[in-house]
Amino acid sequence: MKISVLTLFPEMFEGFQNTSILKRAIDRNLITFECIDYRSYTKDKHHHVDDTPCGGGAGMVLMCQPILDCIKDIRTPSSRVVMLTPQGETFQQKMAHEFASFEHLILLCGHYEGFDERIRDEVDMEVSLGDFVLTGGECAAMVITDAVIRLIENVIQKESFEDDSFENGLLEYPQYTRPIDYHGKKVPEVLLSGHHERIRKWRLKQSLKRTLKKRPDLLAHRSFTKEEMQLMKEIQEECVKEME
Ligand code: ADE
Repeated sequence: MKISVLTLFPEMFEGFQNTSILKRAIDRNLITFECIDYRSYTKDKHHHVDDTPCGGGAGMVLMCQPILDCIKDIRTPSSRVVMLTPQGETFQQKMAHEFASFEHLILLCGHYEGFDERIRDEVDMEVSLGDFVLTGGECAAMVITDAVIRLIENVIQKESFEDDSFENGLLEYPQYTRPIDYHGKKVPEVLLSGHHERIRKWRLKQSLKRTLKKRPDLLAHRSFTKEEMQLMKEIQEECVKEME
């Protein structure tokens, strides 16, 4: 997979691409990562990438020419062009999986007051990290790259993300490591039992319990398995008992 980030600030990605999982994935040829500066596609001698908004108002707007020329230059039939803007569809784990299946992901970072509206016509989709406004799309591009590359085969072990929050529509169960007793706070006994089936069931129940408490919206459209229904019943009974 190849990820191309189009930005006015490629230097922001230096630390990002030289550390951790991204660096390892690049070094192992599992992914190709590049940052392209819109400025290298400008045609005027002052390398302008932005101009004042037509109709007046504050800030600057990213111009069509450098951005569309850049997209045109690097896009192939297997590329997907994603514009990062607060107006886009909210990025979620499901979308991370979809992106991980692309051959070439192009992430367009905005800045200032945003993109000239005509740039929107040339992108495949608009994506937002959430209902807040960032100064630019660069942080969003890093977040999306991070979430996507860890799903690519061999970047991390599959078992490392299979139980992650959201992977099965539930939040992840609680995790513990040594010491078994930390100032009187003990690791649940079942996790020390070595009994795989009991541990699996306990973890599923904890996931359901956590999701119900922290993100009940995730359960609203879930089709529960028989086992999950039974566990939900137990959770409900325990809640009632706690309230008595
Ligand atoms: N650029 C500015 N705000 C953003 C957001 N919320 N998500 C993605 N890109 C952005």
